Amino acid sequence: MEMPSPSTQRATLITEPFDMVVFGGRGDLARRKLLPALYELDRDNRLPPDGRIIAVSRGEMSAEDFRNLVEESCREFSTKGAPLNPEVWARFAQRLSYVSLDASKKETYGGLTAALQGRMAVARGFYLATAPNLFGPIAASLGANGLVTPETRLVLEKPLGHDLASSQAINAAVGAVFAERQIYRIDHYLGKETVQNLMVLRFANSLFEPLWNRTHIDHVQITVAETVGVGGRWGYYDGAGALRDMVQNHLLQVLCLTAMEPPIALDADSVRDEKVKVLKSLNPLTSQEAANATVRGQYRAGAIDGQPVPGYLEETDARDSSNCETYVAIRAEIDNWRWAGVPFYLRTGKRLPLRASEIVVQFKAPPHFIYPTYGAMPPANRLIMRLQPNEGVRFQMLNKKPGPGELRLQQTALNLSFADTFGTVIPDAYERLLLDVIRGRPTLFMRVDEVEAAWRWTDSILESWQQLNVPARPYTAGSWGPSAAIALIERDGRTWHEDDA
Ligand code: BG6
Repeated sequence: MEMPSPSTQRATLITEPFDMVVFGGRGDLARRKLLPALYELDRDNRLPPDGRIIAVSRGEMSAEDFRNLVEESCREFSTKGAPLNPEVWARFAQRLSYVSLDASKKETYGGLTAALQGRMAVARGFYLATAPNLFGPIAASLGANGLVTPETRLVLEKPLGHDLASSQAINAAVGAVFAERQIYRIDHYLGKETVQNLMVLRFANSLFEPLWNRTHIDHVQITVAETVGVGGRWGYYDGAGALRDMVQNHLLQVLCLTAMEPPIALDADSVRDEKVKVLKSLNPLTSQEAANATVRGQYRAGAIDGQPVPGYLEETDARDSSNCETYVAIRAEIDNWRWAGVPFYLRTGKRLPLRASEIVVQFKAPPHFIYPTYGAMPPANRLIMRLQPNEGVRFQMLNKKPGPGELRLQQTALNLSFADTFGTVIPDAYERLLLDVIRGRPTLFMRVDEVEAAWRWTDSILESWQQLNVPARPYTAGSWGPSAAIALIERDGRTWHEDDA
């Protein structure tokens, strides 16, 4: 039986009223992602008819100026790239309002309270797109002003702290006002279609599960390569670095979905229970292990797509010197029965030659190879799950090259491109995540113990780097990172997957 394609599935209509309150409502994230994503949801008729969006920020702004700002943002950042639909925009604009307050002072919340009054029974979400030091004070102020009902959800953007201790402090502060079931911790990678497809691939098909273990898999690579630099975020980024900015959250979440046991069901706790087990099984790196199993890098000036780009220390607002890593490669190990002895190589960096995120599962080579014409080392099968761009799944295998004469083998691929197969524009991750907040579905958000287990492992690396004073090795923008990262995998007799899509 043919399954309905996403385009023919009907939108789930939400009829209950909902108020989405966005703190940091004029900030970068709200303008680039959240407001355009809400507009797209409205375009697809997925917002409740009586749904309102209240942006909160410090400065004064008239309702009209705010609507103009949102209109401009939606035009610029709409994922579908189409001009705004006048009818949809008119409906969306009606939903928008703006309230000014000082998030750290509970006595300034009068305007917000007034805006929400009369709708106390309505489900609502407070989306905190602010600096994490405001998470606790905002939660406390919402509680003190009586704005938290059992139907209220609190959405937290990353970074959720900068180490385990600071993350625990945030979790304790918000936990004093909100129950865990009300807290939605965002990792936008979990909202990406291809990341969700990872679970479908593994758990809706029977082909992979028998092979998905140390007996058949040689190693796994997870790469998130970006061409962008740190842009105007030097101040934030320099205090974070690639390990905190990307590995602690996005790469570890992808690793969890790749490595976890099949959950018993799709509800939030069943999925999160399995992810936490993976995080707890990650082998913490002692300083000696970290010296051999990690590589830090920092980009110098170079060129991407033929265009010159500045080095990390030449970016806007940069200081003269910094040991912050903009690239990291790690050889991680998962100490459990399924994965013992199977390395997971993780790498991520800014100013790399391509924007390409993928998971490569390398299977073991055949135990005995009877085709001498190929050479001594036949390439083993590789399953490549392409997260972005050119989303899809590819399976590399050897085939006979047609023709008489000597038997010749050639590596070819079964190739499933999402764009060709489903013929649809892949929606932005925030569309899915915001919709799940409105629907009250927390599966794609991180539970407190997940975040803390991820910090525990990354802290082991951060501490080792500090103890050993590990330098960030220079790499030229437009290259694949420091040569030590190539040595990291080649020492094990393996190579990084080179993208040929
Ligand atoms: C963010 C990081 O969480 O993810 C950024 O803070 C990074 O530094 C971004 O550029 C990458 O997201 P995406 O969706 O573009 O892969």
